Amino acid sequence: MTQYGHKLSWAVGKKTVLCIGTTTIDFVSTIKRFPEENSHQKVIGGYWIRGGKASNNCTVLANLGVKVEFLGMLSSWSVFQVLVDDLKSRGIIIDNCPTCDQGAPFSSVILTKATKTRNIVYCNNNFPYVSIDDFRKLNLNQYGWIHIRALYFDKSLPMVKDIEAYNANRKEKIVLSMEFDNNLDDMWPLMDYCDYAVFSKKLAQPNGWVSLEDACMQLDERLRMRWGLNLKRPYVVVLWGDQGAGILDLNGNFTHVKPHKPKRIVDALGAGDTFVGAFIYALYIRERSVSVAVDFGNRMASYKCTKNGYDHIANILLPPIL
Ligand code: FRU
Repeated sequence: MTQYGHKLSWAVGKKTVLCIGTTTIDFVSTIKRFPEENSHQKVIGGYWIRGGKASNNCTVLANLGVKVEFLGMLSSWSVFQVLVDDLKSRGIIIDNCPTCDQGAPFSSVILTKATKTRNIVYCNNNFPYVSIDDFRKLNLNQYGWIHIRALYFDKSLPMVKDIEAYNANRKEKIVLSMEFDNNLDDMWPLMDYCDYAVFSKKLAQPNGWVSLEDACMQLDERLRMRWGLNLKRPYVVVLWGDQGAGILDLNGNFTHVKPHKPKRIVDALGAGDTFVGAFIYALYIRERSVSVAVDFGNRMASYKCTKNGYDHIANILLPPIL
């Protein structure tokens, strides 16, 4: 039921948000110091959780009271059932997900207390990815916002083209956001279809970005160098860890959005995924400006780091108890 002043009331009347990508099992261990080679160390804390970028975006959006659907490959293996149960128990729609008979992807995550760092070792064993046929089974009328992680160019391109074709003759258009965190050169043509493009700091080293501003300037130059008539230009957001984020508006103007320093860093796993979920929430559900949405995303990503998992994040929206 909708309650006035409750986080759920904001999402009423909005169409579903769809996140396309992968879901994994994350095995998370907190240790004092990063292990030496061939050593054996006992953790000081640990847990496992459903992970994967799109899957985490869904968790964040669901915790913020948004009707959200995940489109990604599921596995029929019994160990994978915990992920399916978790998605279902949170009300994340998975009705259109295909299922295969392969072992689920998983990540071994090490959170090191001394350095406040997190290391991820990811194992996917060529787990299949959703296809354009899976995508075409969706009724696009249901979605107001689609978010895709740019992971496989060939799989994503026909999806974004379909969204463009759907939008062409509609007044109420689907907003498309994409996250770029690997193989930028291969993924670049997807930019022509996005309304919002979020870039990870992971891309800095392979692309020779030396600072946040430099990353934005290089992206701006690349956007201006595209060929073609009426090419769409997205809002660009570049995440830069503890230095905050940069925004390029539709004319290429740069703004720096300051970071929010976490009160304490307990667990930074999925902070970027939290940013994306919160950013979509602020733009789509709360209809805020891009700079407010980026600031909100930063605040939520920082707050996420103060505890394990994602279940505390919506507390930020609750009115203080007087
Ligand atoms: C965190 C995360 C994890 C997952 C890994 C995949 O951002 O989404 O949940 O295991 O990244 O790269």
